[in-house]
Amino acid sequence: MKKFSEFMKEAVERYYSSNREKIGAGGDFFTAPELDPAFGRAVAEFIEPLLREFEQPAVVELGAGKGLMAYDILSYFRERGLEPTYYIYEFSPYLIEKQRETLRDFENVMWVSELPQIEGLVVSNEFFDSLPVHVVWKNRELFISDSGEEVWEEVGDERLLEFIELMGYQELDIKIEVCLECIEFLEKIAQALVRGYHLLIDYGYTSEEMGNFPEGTVVSYSKHRLDKDIFEDVGQKDITAHVNFSALIEFGRRFGLETVIFQNQRDFLTSVPGFLSELELISAGEKPEDIERLSRLKTMLISMGDRFRVLLQRKV
Ligand SMILES: C[S@@+](CC[C@H](N)C(=O)[O-])C[C@H]1O[C@@H](n2cnc3c(N)ncnc32)[C@H](O)[C@@H]1O
Repeated sequence: MKKFSEFMKEAVERYYSSNREKIGAGGDFFTAPELDPAFGRAVAEFIEPLLREFEQPAVVELGAGKGLMAYDILSYFRERGLEPTYYIYEFSPYLIEKQRETLRDFENVMWVSELPQIEGLVVSNEFFDSLPVHVVWKNRELFISDSGEEVWEEVGDERLLEFIELMGYQELDIKIEVCLECIEFLEKIAQALVRGYHLLIDYGYTSEEMGNFPEGTVVSYSKHRLDKDIFEDVGQKDITAHVNFSALIEFGRRFGLETVIFQNQRDFLTSVPGFLSELELISAGEKPEDIERLSRLKTMLISMGDRFRVLLQRKV
């Protein structure tokens, strides 16, 4: 028997270390950097002034997929004479290979297995949703038996109860997902930042919105379809959970990360002048590729626009 969080951790690791195509048309899901370079360029335009606060800025990207967002950010920076060291923290050998290929023209990229100490920015898109969650319901934690049955046992890990109390979730009669690894990772980010920023983009909820998910948010994706049977074909599909942004904001404060911006992806993208001009340009275009691009930008703004949130924290 194992904790659900252990099951999820193993399943996600097996999935990402396999050699199957994961992200994009031939894979299981799309991410915004896969849809259009305008996303990575918008991120670059947004972070450029933040990096310019530092003499020798560096960027750390967590979970870089095929390296497309890194490519778009670094290309944008190169056009503006900015060449920060760009570290990638990634655990999938398959994706590291893809990233090396995508980023072969950039000499300022390095892969790391520990977060380096930097002045600059830590950034991620759809990284935190891959981290495993514990599931707690009425002071019991979800375990999975060897035959795949759900078993609820008295919570043994004090940190789960502390989390629930700190977040004020004691009275909630719903399945509460607790991502201890997200909190641990956030602490590592705070420690890695000598000075600088943390920018996180992902789908998620706040404490006020948790009631919308009484059964929790864990799902799997396979061949672009949502698949709720996470126990079938383990390692063959991506398993994710929504990110609890209220927890990241609250724990961030404890670790010295002050929230600067928390907004949805639509408001974030439309606050970037370069993204808006590109949108206008494409909207005026009549070529088939303009129409296709317009539909992809609309996906970022409309269907992803509300579900995805952007959190910017600053180390104080
Ligand atoms: C959903 S993909 C997002 C990829 C990319 N950021 C994008 O937007 O296309 C999750 C990424 O995080 C990486 N990842 C997931 N869990 C990780 C972990 N525990 N340590 C390091 N990388 C991890 C995966 O290998 C993958 O690159």
